[in-house]
Amino acid sequence: MTQGAVLPTQIPVHGQMYRLVSGAWVAQMINAVAELGIADALSDDKPVPADELAVATGVDPDKLHRILRALAAFGVFAADTEGRYVHTDLSRVLRRDHPTSMRNAVLTACADWQWQSWSRLTDSVRSGRSAFDDVFGKDMWSYFAEDDPGAETVFQEAHSELATMTDRPLAAAVDIADAVTVIDIGGGYGDFLAAVVDRHPHLNGVLFDTPGTLRSLASDTAAARRAERFTLQPGDFCETVDCSADIYLLKLIICSFDDDMGVRILRNCAANAKPGARIVVIDRVVTNGPESVQAKLSDVQMFVLHPDGRVRTEREFADLFEKAGLGAPHFTPTPSGIYLIEATMHGGAARS
Ligand SMILES: C[S@@+](CC[C@H](N)C(=O)[O-])C[C@H]1O[C@@H](n2cnc3c(N)ncnc32)[C@H](O)[C@@H]1O
Repeated sequence: MTQGAVLPTQIPVHGQMYRLVSGAWVAQMINAVAELGIADALSDDKPVPADELAVATGVDPDKLHRILRALAAFGVFAADTEGRYVHTDLSRVLRRDHPTSMRNAVLTACADWQWQSWSRLTDSVRSGRSAFDDVFGKDMWSYFAEDDPGAETVFQEAHSELATMTDRPLAAAVDIADAVTVIDIGGGYGDFLAAVVDRHPHLNGVLFDTPGTLRSLASDTAAARRAERFTLQPGDFCETVDCSADIYLLKLIICSFDDDMGVRILRNCAANAKPGARIVVIDRVVTNGPESVQAKLSDVQMFVLHPDGRVRTEREFADLFEKAGLGAPHFTPTPSGIYLIEATMHGGAARS
């Protein structure tokens, strides 16, 4: 009864190219319906005409109908034979109340600051500089702290949403052994640390992030409540990590930095680590296999947003660990394409 995605199986090459670049329009349409709360307004149990949805959300009925019709061609919403709309699995994850909602991830992917940065990709490739820094005249974290704390809240919530898909399996892959204290370096709103501590309630969890992020944590009630069981440690991991722990987690951190800073961050973690403590980098790894598409896309996103951001290969990670004096790391792939890259401290501070 409903018409789902109508995607021809064989598209000529020019059509394929046009479809690829039209991805930008599709992204913006998904962003618009997420921002306008269309998925929230659409009932899950009966088809609703676009006119009714438009009245419920206070938008233009004709434009809404046309956007929904186009999105339905991609399987985001579906239309029945009378032109009324229903949810699909893809449109449901745009709802705020979906248990694994992706609404904030969509809003972050299509935020003005992202869009403006990506529009400078060509300049960034020419100059080698980060597009974000060129557009905003400062790095992304300073921009969030000084100019747009609201964007930082959505960004952190986006990371929390994306983490719901990966954190539990990643937490299960971390070998806790006889650890007592675990510190999550750049742990954001503490989702990953919570996933680890949920599995091992005896652990002392320390959440290390910038003073600004830990302050903005308080504006998210659920995250603030979750973080109550952690020690909050504000700091700058580029300067020092003044904490002795058994396990240092660095999830999606090293990919924002060049090798020099990556080495410095690893050494800062190692500086107060006792013999036997483990440093566990949790990051995407670029491989030659087809499973690496998201890692390769994230790699480009890294240099659009961060002057020195990069998603590394296994070889590049191994070099980084060697330079930090941590020896050859052990790699554990997980189904999400994110790896655990781990070294154990021998004799206290990192060997250099
Ligand atoms: C990409 S997010 C990753 C968050 C979290 N680890 C995750 O996996 O979702 C990077 C985190 O590092 C924090 N951060 C960035 N620069 C930092 C610094 N110099 N010192 C401490 N935290 C920093 C940010 O506030 C943010 O929470």
